[in-house]
Amino acid sequence: MIAQRICCVVGARPNFMKVAPVYLALRRRGLEVRLVHTGQHYDEKMSTVFFDDLGMPRPDAFLGVGSGSHAEQTARVMTRFDEDCDAFRPDLVLVAGDVNSTLACAIVASKRGHAVGHIEAGLRSGDWQMPEEINRVVTDRVSDLLLTPSSDGDAHLLAEGTEAWRIRRVGNCMIDSLRTHLDRARSLDTPQALGLKPKGYAVATLHRPSNVDEPAQLAALLDALGQTADKLPILFPIHPRTRARIEAAGLPVATGVQLVDPMGYLQFLGVMADAAVVLTDSGGIQEETTALGVPCLTLRANTERPVTVTEGTNTLLGMDPRSIAPAVDEVLAGRAKGGRIPELWDGKAAERVADVVCAGFQTLLEASEPTRSGQEMP
Ligand code: UD1
Repeated sequence: MIAQRICCVVGARPNFMKVAPVYLALRRRGLEVRLVHTGQHYDEKMSTVFFDDLGMPRPDAFLGVGSGSHAEQTARVMTRFDEDCDAFRPDLVLVAGDVNSTLACAIVASKRGHAVGHIEAGLRSGDWQMPEEINRVVTDRVSDLLLTPSSDGDAHLLAEGTEAWRIRRVGNCMIDSLRTHLDRARSLDTPQALGLKPKGYAVATLHRPSNVDEPAQLAALLDALGQTADKLPILFPIHPRTRARIEAAGLPVATGVQLVDPMGYLQFLGVMADAAVVLTDSGGIQEETTALGVPCLTLRANTERPVTVTEGTNTLLGMDPRSIAPAVDEVLAGRAKGGRIPELWDGKAAERVADVVCAGFQTLLEASEPTRSGQEMP
């Protein structure tokens, strides 16, 4: 069977920059590709702007699931994506990353007997408190094709019993987007427009439940950012979830911390590229800073992207906000951690995905028929 009808799923902000280059590469190969947006993220600033910035067409379907508990959100995606598959009947569903939409669509496609490919397969934090870890493990388990960004991904999958022939190391699709758009991002001069001097400011982002849902932890983090801002101004594009938590708890934000609305892809890439240091709990930003050679201090106890620590510019600070000040002092003293670009972060990962889909995947599916017994391929 040749995968000719392909459904690419996006749902939340970190999906867009991973799927855009793959979607565009598949279209260039003349395949019929449907772009489905679940609507997990729906604000103009969390979603729409990314389509413009990444040169993506409007989605063929917008499922409009919106926010809710994990169960509600996942269930709504599953029901609505099932209906969409009734209409399109894809040969292959491609999902990316670790958000609730990824999990929901992978389960639906798998149960319907559509082949599933997972972009960014095999990453593991080992932390079952993270909803994303559950999403990663379950998505990988029901996927037929595991498209990994780095060798640790292959190793995790093999250790969990995934057959080697399902795994294809394609590299980092998100870095394809970064390489394609960096010059345009820089040309916007976003730091200057915000009154920031190149390499004279820090960027902060925080949105993980472990950092923002508990008022005491959030207050301690804001306090630590305030102290850092005495030495280095901080630009803090704020996720709606974090803004809501700050407002609900009535927490003060120091004047040196410039709170701004979530930024578009190009704007944010521009401010990251010129930052002296980035403080974050995001997954993708750990990788983007490594690709940019910008020091990154990650406010988490673990990372599912260890290559950014072993090879890149990332340092795991842990959960104690008191670790921020000494780490920033090191950067300001010129002792920031250096790094190199990991293997296959070369801007060609999406082309390798397209190669697998166009050629290798047929062989993979044929090889997989015995283990997919009982499932009728469409
Ligand atoms: C989701 C992902 C997380 C990813 C993050 C990037 C899961 C489990 N989590 O977390 O892995 O790092 O996206 O942003 O899928 N909201 C808005 N407007 C929006 C979207 C969300 O105001 O467009 C608010 C709502 O109050 C919502 C809250 O943010 O309840 C959280 O959104 P949700 O999609 O549940 O998770 P994120 O925290 O964004």
